[in-house]
Amino acid sequence: MAFKTSKSLIIGAIVAVASVTGIAFAAGGGSSDYKQDHVDWSFNGAFGKYDRAAAQRGYKVYREVCSSCHQLKHLAFRHLGDKGAPFYLEDFPNPNDNPYVKNFAADWQIEDIDGDTGDVVERPGFPSDYFPEIYPNAAAARASNGGAVPPDLSVMVKARNNGADYVYNLMLAYDAPKPADVELTPGLYYNPVMDGGKIGMPPQLEDGLVDYDPVEIMDHGKVKLIPAPENTAKQMAYDVTQFLAWSADPKLEQRKRTGLMTILYLLILSILLFFSYKRVWRNVEH
Ligand code: HEC
Repeated sequence: MAFKTSKSLIIGAIVAVASVTGIAFAAGGGSSDYKQDHVDWSFNGAFGKYDRAAAQRGYKVYREVCSSCHQLKHLAFRHLGDKGAPFYLEDFPNPNDNPYVKNFAADWQIEDIDGDTGDVVERPGFPSDYFPEIYPNAAAARASNGGAVPPDLSVMVKARNNGADYVYNLMLAYDAPKPADVELTPGLYYNPVMDGGKIGMPPQLEDGLVDYDPVEIMDHGKVKLIPAPENTAKQMAYDVTQFLAWSADPKLEQRKRTGLMTILYLLILSILLFFSYKRVWRNVEH
């Protein structure tokens, strides 16, 4: 009897904990009854792939909009031209020679030490450089952003629950009307995707903000031109999320391919083993 009671107590406790954490999860999805969009991301699923054209435009959005505040500290410019990366070109297996990569790198100023004088100098980036820091330290970052520090974005999509949907919705949710009970101090903005509905980042994307050009992607070994879509805020949010999803997990496609090949290999091996087993034992009575 005592055993039974303790068992039901344990089950009760588990149910209680589950329901409490369930509520906590619901709260983690943001404040009020704001409904987030669920995007059918191209990179989900067993055959998932990044949308290269979108990720290329997403780099442009990052460069022209986000990069004044957010670093991509885990990325070097040359990573943009790696196999599987948004700007990969088959003619340039070494990303250091990729013309896109060279141009992007040169478009940034990198701090360096002058070999002769020892002075700190600024020079255009090389493909091997990492994306530079934006603020010299956290205090400077805070001072420029009303007290909030813009986090590194290179692995943001991995760092948040449902990261791709999260980043996409975060960029667009500023349009939601602010409920009367949310009070904002200066430097804070209403964004229902954030816990508590408050964020230290001003709204970023609006229709027409970034000019889109057609982009070139590799398609079955050939360069294919993809026309530019309309540059709505939604399109930009989608594109920058594709780019940040790639930066957070550049080996995703390779991993999925290896997984599928392994399954195929095991399947063929099982079939062969089955038939060889039949053959080896065919004359033995059993
Ligand atoms: C003017 C500076 C500025 C720009 C430009 C900017 N951000 Fe931010 N961002 C911030 C600050 C500050 C925070 C921290 C906000 C906070 O903690 O309340 C932040 C936070 C974030 C977060 C994390 C939210 C979280 O869950 O903690 C994401 C994701 C993000 N920004 C994405 C972007 C993207 C994508 C762009 C470009 C389209 C962008 N930001 C442009 C200042 C900026």
